[in-house]
Amino acid sequence: MIGIYLSGTGNTKHCLEKLLSIIDKDAKMIPIEDPNSVEEIISNDEVILAYPTQFSNVPFMVRDFINKNSNIWKGKKVFCMTTMGAFSGDGTGCAARVLRKHGAIITGGVMIKMPDSVCDSKMLKKSLDENRRIIREADEKIERIGNNMHNLGKYPQEGLSFISHVAGLMGQRLWFYNKTTDYSTKLKISDSCVGCGKCATSCPMENLIISDGKAISNNRCAMCYRCISSCPVKAITLLGNEVVEQVRYEKFVG
Ligand SMILES: Cc1cc2nc3c(=O)[nH]c(=O)nc-3n(C[C@H](O)[C@H](O)[C@H](O)COP(=O)(O)O)c2cc1C
Repeated sequence: MIGIYLSGTGNTKHCLEKLLSIIDKDAKMIPIEDPNSVEEIISNDEVILAYPTQFSNVPFMVRDFINKNSNIWKGKKVFCMTTMGAFSGDGTGCAARVLRKHGAIITGGVMIKMPDSVCDSKMLKKSLDENRRIIREADEKIERIGNNMHNLGKYPQEGLSFISHVAGLMGQRLWFYNKTTDYSTKLKISDSCVGCGKCATSCPMENLIISDGKAISNNRCAMCYRCISSCPVKAITLLGNEVVEQVRYEKFVG
């Protein structure tokens, strides 16, 4: 088994790590942007694909990866895991449908509520205690489903039904559809950028470069919020215009 994931602020990485620690301690996990990710999928029969919900959809970067490597999925058993800040009718189903088209066998899906990674919106801000509680509950859910998967071979089917499909579509995806059909060109870098390069080295798309001491976006942003949540001077925004509070999984634990 192999775990493949996209994670901007660490939520999805944590959830996948926890699930694998229960169902297959020997399984490797690898970020989707790793040059070996395709080879790893090819050499494993079972894959857990984990990603954050974006606008009730699968992030374009993940869909692009699935489609560009369309020939590797035939006969693979794939379990889809998504994390979300609040709601995702069929966050798992969005990738599952594309994977099925390429011949994958979908074994199940799970959607886990985690802290919201959009840290440039006041509306989505939660207190430290609230985020800690959300993570505690997420961990409990993963333990529950992980034990069922491992001990009983019972895989959850969250987000994969027709009803979930309609809920995802009507709840959000339709209204924001145009935001998830390509990489984003909307990343903003303010004059406070000090050109430290942290964003450039962490971007899963290699979308950012440093030129003349400032970060520049090449308009291929995966909207993962990794750069926004780790910029030391809070110079980067995407959906909002000001970083309210940087959100990263490790800030809420320990
Ligand atoms: C661009 C963007 C869109 C998002 N859309 C949704 C959404 O539609 N529903 C939801 O519940 N959470 C949404 N979220 C929140 C993330 O899915 C959630 O915080 C996730 O756990 C982040 O995982 P990560 O830390 O692994 O990147 C969105 C986050 C971003 C950055």
